[in-house]
Amino acid sequence: MVRVPVSTPDGWTRESRIATAPPHTTTTTTNLNPSSTIMPITKSKPRPGSDNASSLSDLGARIIHYVQAGYPGLYLVSPEEQRVEAELKAVTEHLNAIMDKTDKTKYALCYWSVVDGLVNTETKQVINANDPLELLQAISEHKEKAVILLKDFHLFLQDPNPILVRKLKDVLLEAKTKQKTLIVVGCRLVLPPELEREITVVEFALPGKEALRGVLHGIMESAGIKGLAVEQQEKAVDAASGLTTIEAENAFALSFVQTRIIEPSVVAREKAQAVKKSGLLEIIETRESLDSIGGLDVMKDWLLKRRNAFTQRAVDYGLPPAKGLLIIGIAGTGKSLSAKVTAQVFGVPLLKLDAGRLYGGLVGQSEANLRSVIQTAEAIAPCCLWLDELEKGLAGSKSSGSTDGGTSARVLGSLLSWMSEKTAPVFVVATANDVSQLPPELLRAGRWDSMFFVDLPNVEERQAIWTIQIRKHGRNPADFDPVQLARASEGLTGSEIEAVFVESLYDAFDRDTQPTDLDIARALTDFVPLSKTMAKQINALRTWATGRARCATSPALSERRLRKFAA
Ligand SMILES: Nc1ncnc2c1ncn2[C@@H]1O[C@H](COP(=O)(O)OP(=O)(O)OP(=O)(O)O)[C@@H](O)[C@H]1O
Ligand SMILES: [Mg+2]
Repeated sequence: MVRVPVSTPDGWTRESRIATAPPHTTTTTTNLNPSSTIMPITKSKPRPGSDNASSLSDLGARIIHYVQAGYPGLYLVSPEEQRVEAELKAVTEHLNAIMDKTDKTKYALCYWSVVDGLVNTETKQVINANDPLELLQAISEHKEKAVILLKDFHLFLQDPNPILVRKLKDVLLEAKTKQKTLIVVGCRLVLPPELEREITVVEFALPGKEALRGVLHGIMESAGIKGLAVEQQEKAVDAASGLTTIEAENAFALSFVQTRIIEPSVVAREKAQAVKKSGLLEIIETRESLDSIGGLDVMKDWLLKRRNAFTQRAVDYGLPPAKGLLIIGIAGTGKSLSAKVTAQVFGVPLLKLDAGRLYGGLVGQSEANLRSVIQTAEAIAPCCLWLDELEKGLAGSKSSGSTDGGTSARVLGSLLSWMSEKTAPVFVVATANDVSQLPPELLRAGRWDSMFFVDLPNVEERQAIWTIQIRKHGRNPADFDPVQLARASEGLTGSEIEAVFVESLYDAFDRDTQPTDLDIARALTDFVPLSKTMAKQINALRTWATGRARCATSPALSERRLRKFAA
């Protein structure tokens, strides 16, 4: 809910925003207002005979099909009750408009909430059935054909009362023959297994660009913003993609209050916070670029070749959409760093998924979490979706069935099928250390555009990493000898090189001087690298990767290295 800040310009109140913004964006009234105009989510051609009805989105058309096919129960997963209301209003209007002329009975649109009871939006008749059991009784006594939106009903489906489940089953069975469709709306999916077959789950996608443009124009009108360049408007709409209509409206309003214009960076910052609230996704801001990575030349070339993959030019050229990249390798060799850089190369936002948090305790919650992640990523698209330490998120899917009732296997299945079918420009970049934990279907040929293996850095790569790390920590590489440091640090990963340099910084700081090659050499002597302590695992990973994944470093470099060593 927007609080209008004290510094709001005269005459611009929340109420005026409500009056001027499209209804689906800021309908604060709990009652549906049948006379209000509806802003379609996606405009589509009106159906024959439906000239007076509101335009219908693809989802609206799907709901119509469900209603016509006699589906008694639908579950719309969406945090946007107002958009759902508007959509169902359009649905009912269309249903009535396309009805057989000989059929005199029209579909009624009713809604229910614990506070308002059951309200018929046409006749304004209210039945004070505030309890879910009373509601079901009222629905069963309802004579007309109806689309009934149930607002708070999902809250009663968590650990449901057996009487409620039985009654709901009976009402659904009856509704099938009486042309009544019950539509539960909830911000999350709560469906006990007893009702899974009775109720069809329908995803309600986040608003598309067209709808967000409507929200922006509403705010511009309310705030009296004139002359905002179309390019700036589009940037603001892009920055808001992935938000609900209310969140977008709030972000635009905040931006106006803070900057007196609509500033995309303010909207983007608000979006980062809104996305983070879900606990599953985070928008990562990164300043890293290809120059921040030492070595890994093959992978860098591969990425560079795809830098325009998300442009219209690539689409016009007929390039198939880029699917994703899997980076496998030894810990600390720059896999996460490369994932961050991928988004920077493509020039798109980076969304990091905390795969471990996908899993929820309730039945179906993990799948619902994945669906919400996909929805957000597709709404923000073009973007990179980063699955870090993939094996940790999918742990259990190999032995699934015995350990977690098949949840991780189902989540993996949904992820894989989305990856192979997705049309939205979402590039998946995944990283993993331990392939033995990864389910084989994830490693199947063709699953990814490429699978790269990142080995310990060779001498030339170490030299580049030393230079990068010295510079990164505010020192001049010319004051050191990166060639010698590279030779002295064989077997160290990039992150170990960084750790050694930081160690020498601490030493020097303690002595109130600046670090020298000698300090680094001392720190190196005490350092035990992972390549020593985990030599067996590293060799096993190398053996696995041979022939399965592309080496992120070109063999030419290794040959040159060999020649250098031989000399
Ligand atoms: N090739 C590299 N070039 C420059 N810096 C590197 C390189 N590899 C690692 N680093 C440094 O090490 C840090 C940690 O690397 P990163 O997190 O990318 O490793 P990782 O392969 O993802 O490790 P893990 O498997 O433990 O997650 C980086 O932030 C960077 O400072
Ligand atoms: Mg990592």
